[in-house]
Amino acid sequence: MFVTFEGLDGSGKSTQAQLLADALRGQGRDVVATREPGGTPLGEQVRQILLDGHAMVPWAEAALFAAARAELAETVIVPALQAGKDVVSDRYIDSSLAYQGIARDLGVDRILRLNLEATRGVLPDRTILVLVDPETARARTRASDRIERESAEFHAAVDDAYRALAAMFPNRIVAVDGTTPPKELAQKILGRLRDLS
Ligand code: TYD
Repeated sequence: MFVTFEGLDGSGKSTQAQLLADALRGQGRDVVATREPGGTPLGEQVRQILLDGHAMVPWAEAALFAAARAELAETVIVPALQAGKDVVSDRYIDSSLAYQGIARDLGVDRILRLNLEATRGVLPDRTILVLVDPETARARTRASDRIERESAEFHAAVDDAYRALAAMFPNRIVAVDGTTPPKELAQKILGRLRDLS
């Protein structure tokens, strides 16, 4: 199965991605865990430009995320799935739909089209959206990169965007409550994925 995790910085999605990968491995499954932006040598370089570099116009940002994702899909995700492995990714296409498509106002349809081209149409079987309100998320992190340093309004727009995406893709996106204690939430997520395994 191919499962992605999405949510605001500070939602706890990275912890849950890790717990899911561990749980699947505990069941004897072969799991490739990855993250975006990054996950390949090119992706890690692009990550630096995106998160530590200069300000850039929104389409440059969207194109760089898509470039890193193209490399990750073709060199990591597709080969793993073809070898019968599970793939768990901390962020994927929905991050671009929420941050660039909606919060940066480039348009969900256009960002989806760009990313479907870049990944040759590789979409997750399920996307776990870890929801916490933006104030809680903000209190849990210290803004450490260019996008995390955006305004509270921007992060509120991203939160709204994720909720809108969950309504747009109800069969793929499963929203869960990020204020649930981590181990309990991990169990719930496993339950929501049972029909896939
Ligand atoms: P993040 O998951 O926060 O990385 P880490 O937790 O390892 O620091 O990702 C960095 C930022 O990039 C985050 O604020 C969301 C943003 N982002 C986008 O705007 N679009 C995308 O397509 C992706 C993958 C991330």
